[in-house]
Amino acid sequence: MGVIIAPSLLSADFAALGADIAAVERGGAGLLHVDVMDGHFVPNLSMGPPVVRAIRRVATVPLDVHLMLDNPDAYIQPFAEAGASRITVHVEVLPHLHRTLQVIRGAGLKAGVAINPSTPVSALEEIAGDVDQVLVMSVNPGFGGQTFIPRSESKIRAVRALLDAAGNAAPVSVDGGVDHSNVQRIAAAGAAILVAGQAIFGSGDAERATRELCALVGDGSAV
Ligand code: DX5
Ligand code: ZN
Repeated sequence: MGVIIAPSLLSADFAALGADIAAVERGGAGLLHVDVMDGHFVPNLSMGPPVVRAIRRVATVPLDVHLMLDNPDAYIQPFAEAGASRITVHVEVLPHLHRTLQVIRGAGLKAGVAINPSTPVSALEEIAGDVDQVLVMSVNPGFGGQTFIPRSESKIRAVRALLDAAGNAAPVSVDGGVDHSNVQRIAAAGAAILVAGQAIFGSGDAERATRELCALVGDGSAV
């Protein structure tokens, strides 16, 4: 699998989502990252299944839905029906994470697990063989435009090693503060899905910024 760029629509223009999606797809986006926030697990609100359904109608690449919710179990089915291809849930809120991953896969989707900056990689030990993706949060979730936490780089290496030890080739995804200055180091650490919001939509030319990020890390072949 090549390294792919997943633009985070949280930083897109919500009044012109269709145009912004078309721009990043022209630029080579391999996935669209959709941030779902509940105002409890994170101190912000964003979008729900109706918006995902609308995005699905215009997007040509898969939707990677990141659930930052206290109760993600209640929303797997609605987001699956809305058109998500991948759903990522946070280990911090799920006492029965294994069951949740089974439900996501049972709905025909790829199942991802996210860990916050303060969550140790060891939290993934028992499910390393059962995930389709691990999302390393490189900022504290809730907002776009934050600064990449440097320690995340070694965490990416540790997650990659854990998955390899489990015989799992699932990609490591990185979310938060990814930009032109650090994207190559992050990819070299073992991240295969690079989420970027502000670096793309805050640049003034989302197509060009996506194309430049893709060029920095490789050809962006599909997951
Ligand atoms: C943060 C979200 C991220 C965010 C990334 O809670 O999960 O996806 O939008 O945005 P940037 O790239 O601006 O840090
Ligand atoms: Zn995200």
